Amino acid sequence: MGKNETGPKDFYKLRYSAEAAALQDRIFAEVDPDYFGQGSWTSTADYDRLFDGLDVGPKHVVLDIASGGGAPALRLAERRRCRVVGIDRSADAVATATRRAGERGLSERVTFKAADATARLPFDDGHFDAVISVDGLIHLPNRPAVLAEWARVVKRGGRLAFTDQIVTAPIMNQRKFRRNMVPSYSSLRAPWIALRAVLTAM
Ligand SMILES: C[S@@+](CC[C@H](N)C(=O)[O-])C[C@H]1O[C@@H](n2cnc3c(N)ncnc32)[C@H](O)[C@@H]1O
Repeated sequence: MGKNETGPKDFYKLRYSAEAAALQDRIFAEVDPDYFGQGSWTSTADYDRLFDGLDVGPKHVVLDIASGGGAPALRLAERRRCRVVGIDRSADAVATATRRAGERGLSERVTFKAADATARLPFDDGHFDAVISVDGLIHLPNRPAVLAEWARVVKRGGRLAFTDQIVTAPIMNQRKFRRNMVPSYSSLRAPWIALRAVLTAM
């Protein structure tokens, strides 16, 4: 390794560094004037639509899967007056989210925990009134098992709301795909768009 090269980087640590957050704030605020600190290209209007679709209020507790820097969980708690538990596998994301909850005076109602959403979730059956995940599913392999876990921890009749990426144009060959990709997990360009779905749990 040359003198000026760095070793392997912790991708998620980079993602939640102060420099990355400042750059993200600038870029996202240009794209969406209502940007509130979310870590995805989902618009603020669409977050609010998802939050309202959960049909939760002050008596309810919601699980946010892959909660990232915590801004959506905090907005959900403020908008719907509910409690929220966020999980993310990145310790840096959890630290950032926990700090933000404290700064907003929401530590009692909104908590964050490091957990791998591809494993069994550290919650009892039917613990939550609703489960939400925005742009988390794309990171999670073995989706039938992942979704089964979401269904396990939500109360019967509770709601699951999530976004995912789908292909809306012909599949590209490898060469084109590489050319259209920039080296960031969250930078899939067109023809990908977010699929928004609100499902009522069984
Ligand atoms: C695009 S960000 C979305 C963050 C947040 N949902 C939002 O809307 O701002 C994706 C998040 O998924 C998390 N993640 C990736 N793989 C995960 C896993 N196996 N378990 C839990 N979180 C994961 C990342 O750490 C990252 O914070």
